[in-house]
Amino acid sequence: MHDAISIITAKRDGRELSGAEIDWVIEAFTHGIVADEQMAALAMAVYFRGMTRAEVSRWTSAMVDSGSRMDFTWLDRPTVDKHSTGGVGDKITLPLAPLVAACGAAVPQLSGRGLGHTGGTLDKLEAVPGWRADLSRAEMAEILADPAVGAVVCAAGADLAPADRRLYALRDVTGTVESIPLIASSIMSKKIAEGTEALVLDVKVGAGAFMKDVADARELARTMVELGADEGVRTVALLTAMDAPLGRTAGNALEVREAVEVLAGGGPDDVVELTLALAREMLAAVGLDGVDPADRLRDGSAMDRWRSMIAAQGGDPAAPLPRARHTDVVLAEFDGVVDGIDAHGVGLAAWRLGAGRARAGESVQAAAGVELHVGLGDLVTVGTPLATLHTDTPEKFDYARRSLEPAFTGSAESARRARGVVIERIGPVER
Ligand code: URA
Repeated sequence: MHDAISIITAKRDGRELSGAEIDWVIEAFTHGIVADEQMAALAMAVYFRGMTRAEVSRWTSAMVDSGSRMDFTWLDRPTVDKHSTGGVGDKITLPLAPLVAACGAAVPQLSGRGLGHTGGTLDKLEAVPGWRADLSRAEMAEILADPAVGAVVCAAGADLAPADRRLYALRDVTGTVESIPLIASSIMSKKIAEGTEALVLDVKVGAGAFMKDVADARELARTMVELGADEGVRTVALLTAMDAPLGRTAGNALEVREAVEVLAGGGPDDVVELTLALAREMLAAVGLDGVDPADRLRDGSAMDRWRSMIAAQGGDPAAPLPRARHTDVVLAEFDGVVDGIDAHGVGLAAWRLGAGRARAGESVQAAAGVELHVGLGDLVTVGTPLATLHTDTPEKFDYARRSLEPAFTGSAESARRARGVVIERIGPVER
């Protein structure tokens, strides 16, 4: 027999929880037997005391077991997915999923909507006229099995790790999001339940990311790589820079446009670099490392997959993307070299313009966001256009400018060489 108070006080006092205690508390919470305030207290105790590898592994499997686990082992291709911990302008899933499918793997991706200053993949894809995020499991399976598609990006159903869904909502309002074991188990429970054979994690580091420093990002990455191995999912992580936004756009339709540029063989260097680095890791994880994804961008086959992937979910890949009714341009107020573009400031501006939501369930503006005209190392003079703001609600311009203008910093020094995006690779580890 177990009870919530003994488990909370044990963790509060720094004792390792047993597997049976963890199974009980997650199941009892899922069924409303452990109350929200008790789970919030336990989350706070975990925040301060942490969890051992055995605890976090058991916690993750208990959250997977709170719902159903999908199974794609019947497909004639290996399955592999990517998860990013979230960054400003991170539209990588959009070119990556069709690219990896064009290289011979199946990509089952359950994604979320954005909350706060980083956008959600589903919000971005919903900017494509007609595209639908809500698919039944049968529809998802049919698209994955279709040899002309093989990639699906859709909303997670209510039955996927329901314990995490409830716990994440509680953590969000109790100051317990920023705990490495809780973040790692939350992310990995959903990815394990999704039934992918292999997983590549893009763990963002920097001012615009959850993890502001490399040591924390490394610990989060290692914890997730180990959790994947414990559950038989081959998992590798890349730590990638998130000081400046990724690419030149932040906002739903603007990011789709940039993703399509990448699929057409163009697009910003950092977006192309990260898309190819993640694609290579995903292919290697499922033994398809003989295929060079750069060839699939060049020969148009990734673009063909994009079109069929969008059409399979009701979207019209040829339809014009929504455009904002109002735009406003931010001009440089300095002469010199752009040596910083703060991702958080840019993300906040896009959010203030209407690209993101303040509360779950709100709608977003498809066309709102920020388009950058300069990158790190560019030379500007007073009056050079730095960015264009897009919105349907022009009364938001001043509010957005307040976070965007200070995001640009310049120096008189000669141009700093731009760093590569990938900082470090972690994993895989043996089970
Ligand atoms: N994303 C998740 O899914 N869970 C977390 O805890 C943090 C980010």
